Amino acid sequence: MSHDRAAAWSLLVEFTPSQPLRRHALSVEATMRALARSRGVTDPVEVETWGVVGLLHDFDYERYPTEQDHVWRGMEILRERGWPEPVIRAVGAHAFYTGIERIQPMEKAILAADELSGFVGACALVRPSKRVADVPVESVVKRMKDKAFARSVDRGYITRGAEEWGTPLPELVAIVIRAQVAVAGRIGLDGAPAEELADAPTPPEPEAG
Ligand SMILES: [Fe+2]
Ligand SMILES: [Fe+2]
Repeated sequence: MSHDRAAAWSLLVEFTPSQPLRRHALSVEATMRALARSRGVTDPVEVETWGVVGLLHDFDYERYPTEQDHVWRGMEILRERGWPEPVIRAVGAHAFYTGIERIQPMEKAILAADELSGFVGACALVRPSKRVADVPVESVVKRMKDKAFARSVDRGYITRGAEEWGTPLPELVAIVIRAQVAVAGRIGLDGAPAEELADAPTPPEPEAG
């Protein structure tokens, strides 16, 4: 079996019945691909691999949500199923508590993409239009300081993600917003609730935002 985007989607849905978590995977995938392109990655296979890391980073979370298990079990399963080591390492690098150092750009990208993609989504849903296309960069940056807003999002991950990625936060936010716009309908950020993400077929690739 080849370890491509379609394989990543089937592994994700095998472990993840939850619709919000499937949408989170698609949203982080879109950001990962945008980050790859923003660093000059043009090879479509490589762009896809960055996206695959986004799709898979939380695939074990619904089944194994604790810090004792999440990411560790996922990495084991990926290894058993023959996923390439750079993908496994990047998946492992998305949580601070694994202690896996982020060295490769793809490893830094998953930290930069993960929590911020969710946060930008939360910012979209409080707008009257509920469209991510209408979210100004400044409002995201401002809400970062509002502790009561989207409490579950760890700001430390976002700040550190931007630092390690080496881009000022507003620039990173702009990339994330554009990436979410490209998949907005599928992830419920286009003014209407998203349709069910079925196990099959694999959702279409996000267009370059
Ligand atoms: Fe996670
Ligand atoms: Fe995540």
